[in-house]
Amino acid sequence: MEDYCRQAIAVGDQLSDCGCQMIATARVVVLCRRDPPMPGHSSTTNGERRPLDTTTHTAPVTVDVWRLSSGLSRTRLDELTTTLSSDEHERAARFHFPRDRARFIASRAFLRSVLARYLAIDPAMVAFDYDAYRKPLLRGGSPTDLRFNLAHSGEMTLVAVAHGVDVGVDVEVPRDLPDRQQIAARFFSRPEAEGIAALPEELRDQAFFACWTRKEAYLKAVGLGLSGPLDGFDVTVDPGAPAEILRIHGSTHAAREWSIHDLSQPPEYRAAVVVHAPRSLVVNRTTGDEIPIP
Ligand SMILES: CC(C)(COP(=O)(O)OP(=O)(O)OC[C@H]1O[C@@H](n2cnc3c(N)ncnc32)[C@H](O)[C@@H]1OP(=O)(O)O)[C@@H](O)C(=O)NCCC(=O)NCCS
Repeated sequence: MEDYCRQAIAVGDQLSDCGCQMIATARVVVLCRRDPPMPGHSSTTNGERRPLDTTTHTAPVTVDVWRLSSGLSRTRLDELTTTLSSDEHERAARFHFPRDRARFIASRAFLRSVLARYLAIDPAMVAFDYDAYRKPLLRGGSPTDLRFNLAHSGEMTLVAVAHGVDVGVDVEVPRDLPDRQQIAARFFSRPEAEGIAALPEELRDQAFFACWTRKEAYLKAVGLGLSGPLDGFDVTVDPGAPAEILRIHGSTHAAREWSIHDLSQPPEYRAAVVVHAPRSLVVNRTTGDEIPIP
């Protein structure tokens, strides 16, 4: 990780300039990577990069989206903690605030529980590897090439699951951003920043977060996360219009390899899922606070 520097700022803080490509998350972290790789590669379980599978799928691919949308009782959390691995326990212990620790435990236990269903094993038996960009993957793969991605924001955790294709998901809680236009101009592509500015004022915060979640979901599907170039591709920004990836490095052809959906959530959230297939169908699997028991 020596080619990264981190700056703990919040979006909306004064943006500093260290000469690196600077990328701000909608929460608190800025990662600067001096030589960001371009999308077009995904990860193997041993962390090596390999070309993305560009196989086109004629039939739509199904992506299951599982949602955990409320906090859990202390007792339930204690139960769920037993399904976590030792490295997850260590991560949980590093959280300063109990609320953040509880959210991490709940989302990891939820992820394990969801994956265990597909794998027909105990949640505690699910084993993860991490690629060079920390994207979690199933250790050793699975017979059906199960792939997944997780996102959390507030009390919401989303897990997207597909077979044989990469997926990425993001969820954010939109809020007022005084520096919204400055952030958009700096990190989004020019058409996106201009598209947001052209909307009526009352839609611009929603447009910013629609754009953000669509872009982050794509970069998470690719596996680069926010170390990928946010301005290297264009998505639609109108929060009321269908989500679309319009161009990747200027290519509409490359964009057609991917499909994207906004996820209908409670109105206080914006969320998107991206699938490496030209056509995909989203199946909403849970809407409550139940963690599925395999
Ligand atoms: C992935 C990333 C975009 C998450 O941003 P976020 O808005 O804070 O968090 P989200 O809720 O959307 O997603 C978090 C989840 O994404 C998954 N994830 C982590 N890295 C990922 C990656 N590179 N690609 C896709 N998914 C990733 C994890 O499951 C993580 O949940 P966990 O931390 O509870 O295990 C951000 O952490 C990032 O850019 N990471 C890659 C940069 C990098 O190389 N980091 C190395 C550490 S310095």
